[in-house]
Amino acid sequence: MALTTDLGRRPQLREVAGIPLQATTVDNWSQIQNFEAKPDDLLICTYPKSGTTWIQEIVDMIEQNGDMEKCQRAIIQHRHPFIEWARPPHPSVLRWFLLAYFKGVEKARAMPSPRTLRTHLPTQLLPPSFWKNNCKFLYVARNAKDCMVSYYHFQRMNQMLPDPGTWEEYFETFVSGKVCWGSWYDHVKGWWEIKDRYQMLFLHYEDIKKDPKHEIQKVMQFMGRNLNETILDKIVQETSFEKMKENPMTNRSAVPTSILDQSISPFMRKGTVGDWKNHFTVAQNERFDKIYRKKMEGTSIDFCMEL
Ligand code: A3P
Repeated sequence: MALTTDLGRRPQLREVAGIPLQATTVDNWSQIQNFEAKPDDLLICTYPKSGTTWIQEIVDMIEQNGDMEKCQRAIIQHRHPFIEWARPPHPSVLRWFLLAYFKGVEKARAMPSPRTLRTHLPTQLLPPSFWKNNCKFLYVARNAKDCMVSYYHFQRMNQMLPDPGTWEEYFETFVSGKVCWGSWYDHVKGWWEIKDRYQMLFLHYEDIKKDPKHEIQKVMQFMGRNLNETILDKIVQETSFEKMKENPMTNRSAVPTSILDQSISPFMRKGTVGDWKNHFTVAQNERFDKIYRKKMEGTSIDFCMEL
């Protein structure tokens, strides 16, 4: 196992079909690939740092008819199994018990239907049973520049991912797709291109930010639910960045500092559109745009870069 936290170093990534993933995911790969999806599963799909936690809380609030107390039943990571997740062993815990317990596929298997699950996998690595069972997919995409900034700060504080190095170094790592779960461009293009062939709702982080009620309504309809205006307004309120930052069930405060060190950067960091402007130099921005045009050539997907 490539995990080296015991030695005070960050774990290195390994690869499956050219996509960098956490070593613990790679160790459990056959179990993940053989995961049996069910026809009534809803799978939340995102590239990392695209608003996964946000959409999870929105989906859960819709499922619970806006009952906040029910949404407080568990931390968000435990409400929707993360299918490719296998918790790395940690010296301060009962390692083998937790290693077994924290496999996303096992959690999902133990969960009653209808299940809401989540993944960061690109389309080509998704367990085939999701396609076979024509499951519902809810994809959230976030503009690449804000995603890069968010991922950079996340890697600074997440001791289970490689050290991002300097911002300049990370810029190169990100554009070359050498980050966990691979290239942003390929991920977004891959899911975008198949969206009309499957039961898929494709959302943009920036749209949720701009008009949360409208986007939440779309999610509600996609889930086949019908909630009244009062409940919808409550969901908008309870899933605001400010509320979720204070909510211990969504802000990751329950995760030990040895895993997520929020003194370096909080998990609920800024929650804005356009923070990239505080990080990109003019030269980096020009270079990024050039690479972006090339990598995204031929796709119809469009992103809003500032509100
Ligand atoms: P920033 O680092 O830019 O602040 P994920 O859940 O996929 O890891 O994404 C995390 C990003 O989503 C973080 O972005 C986080 O602040 C942001 N986020 C989480 N909840 C949010 C909310 N309710 N509104 C807006 N952004 C939110």
